[in-house]
Amino acid sequence: MTGNEDVLLVHGGTPLEGEIRVRGAKNLVPKAMVAALLGGEPSRLRNVPDIRDVRVVRGLLELHGVTVRTGSEAGELVLDPSNVESADVADIDAHAGSSRIPILFCGPLLHRLGHAFIPGLGGCDIGGRPIDFHFDVLRQFGATIEKRPEGQYLEAPQRLRGTKIKLPYPSVGTTEQVLLTAVLAEGVTELSNAAVEPEIEDLICVLQKMGAIISLDTDRTIRITGVDRLGGYQHRALPDRLEAASWACAALATEGSVYVHGASQREMLTFLNTYRKVGGAFAVEDDGIRFWHPGGPLKAIALETDVHPGFQTDWQQPLVVALTQASGLSIVHETVYESRLGFTEALNQMGAHIQLYRECLGGTPCRFGQRNFLHSAVVSGPTKLQASELVIPDLRGGFSYLIAALAAQGTSRVHGIELINRGYENFMEKLPGLGAKVEAA
Ligand code: EPU
Repeated sequence: MTGNEDVLLVHGGTPLEGEIRVRGAKNLVPKAMVAALLGGEPSRLRNVPDIRDVRVVRGLLELHGVTVRTGSEAGELVLDPSNVESADVADIDAHAGSSRIPILFCGPLLHRLGHAFIPGLGGCDIGGRPIDFHFDVLRQFGATIEKRPEGQYLEAPQRLRGTKIKLPYPSVGTTEQVLLTAVLAEGVTELSNAAVEPEIEDLICVLQKMGAIISLDTDRTIRITGVDRLGGYQHRALPDRLEAASWACAALATEGSVYVHGASQREMLTFLNTYRKVGGAFAVEDDGIRFWHPGGPLKAIALETDVHPGFQTDWQQPLVVALTQASGLSIVHETVYESRLGFTEALNQMGAHIQLYRECLGGTPCRFGQRNFLHSAVVSGPTKLQASELVIPDLRGGFSYLIAALAAQGTSRVHGIELINRGYENFMEKLPGLGAKVEAA
C-alpha cells in the first residue's frame, strides 16, 4: 500500500465474491497467551492471527521474561515462561491505551511475582468500560490495589485464596480474570452469574490442559479448585466467530457471496438463525460456512443483543448495515454496552434511516433503560447508501463502515483503518481478494 496508510478509498457498489479464512478468535488468543504465564513449562498455541492485540500481549509477556517465538506451523506461537521476572514500569507503561487485555495479567503476575503493574487500558470506545468488577474480585482473592498516576499497582501479601463470588453482570473479562486467578489460588473458588461465551469455554480448555480443575454448571456457575502448579499446554484456538459474522454481513449488504473458511457453526448458532430470519442464505460445509444474498428483498427483524448464548453484541454493528437494506422497520436493543449505536450517525449521513431511543425497545428491560443512554435503534429500510467521508469510531463500528462503503454508490474515504487491524487479520489483502475496489488515499 502506498499513500496515506490510515485512509482508504472504497469504490462501492460491487458485490463481495470469493473466499477468505478466519483464524483463531481475537477474544481468546491473547488470553490464552496470558494463561501461558501460569505454567511451569512452555506452551504452544496454534491458529494465532496476526492482529494488534496479539502483538501487544506478546510485547508485555516478553517484558516479563516470557520467551515468545513462532513455531514451525504458520500461526503457531511457543511461549516459555521459565524465567518470569518483574518488568520496568516505564516499559509496561509504553503499552498504555493499547488494549484491554493487560488487566488480565493481574492474577498470573500476582501468582508468579507477588506483584503486578497494570498500565492504563485501551479498547473500543463503546461505553464507559469500567474495571470495578475486576478489582472487586481481585480484592476478594486477597490482592491489594493501589492507584498510582502511571497505572494500577497490585500486591499479593500472601498466596491468593479461593473465594465465593457473584458477578453483578456476566462480564466476559471478569470471568476470565477469576479463572486466571483462581486456578493457582488456595482452595475452591465458586463464581456465579459467570459469562459463558465460547471463548471462555476455550480458555477453560486451555487451563484444564495445564492441570487446572474447573467445572461449569448449567446455571452459569463455575467452580475452580486451586492447584499448586500448572504445566504448559498445546492448543488450537477456536475460530473467530465475530470476524466470520462480519464477513457474512458484508456478503449480505453488498448482495454478494463469501465463503468463510474456518467459520464454525457451533459457536454461531444464534447468529445463523438471525441471518436466516433477515433473509440471508448460508451453507455449512466441512471447512467453513458460505454466506450469500439469495436475491429478493431482505426482511426487517427485532433484535436484542445479550450475553452468550444470546445475540453477541459484536455481531450487532455489522448486521445493522445489512438491516438498512431490509424492507420495513427493524428494532435493535443493545443491552451489553450503553453506547454502541453511535456509529449509526454516519450511516444516516450515507442515506440510512436509523433513529436512536433511550427506551428499551426489546422484550426485556435492560440495565440502561432508566439511565438516559441511546441504546435502542429503529432502522427503516430499504435505503440506498451513498458514499461518504467516514471516520472509524471503534473496531466493529469501523468494519461496519467498510461494509457500508462497499455497499454504497460512489467512492467513500474511510479514515482510521488502523483500528480495524486490532481485530481483523489481513483485511487489506482479503478485501481485494473478494473483488472489493479499495486503494490507499
Ligand atoms: N463491566 C462493568 N465493570 C467491569 C467490567 C465490565 O461494568 O469491571 C460492564 C461493561 O461496561 C459492559 C459489560 O459489563 O457494559 C460487559 O463487559 P465485559 O466485561 O463482558 O466485556 P469485556 O471483557 O471488556 C469482551 C470482548 C468484547 C465483547 C465483550 C462482550 C475482549 C478483549 N473483548 O470485552 O469484544 O464485546 O466481551 O462479549 O474479549 C470486540 O471484539 O470488538 C469487543 C469489544
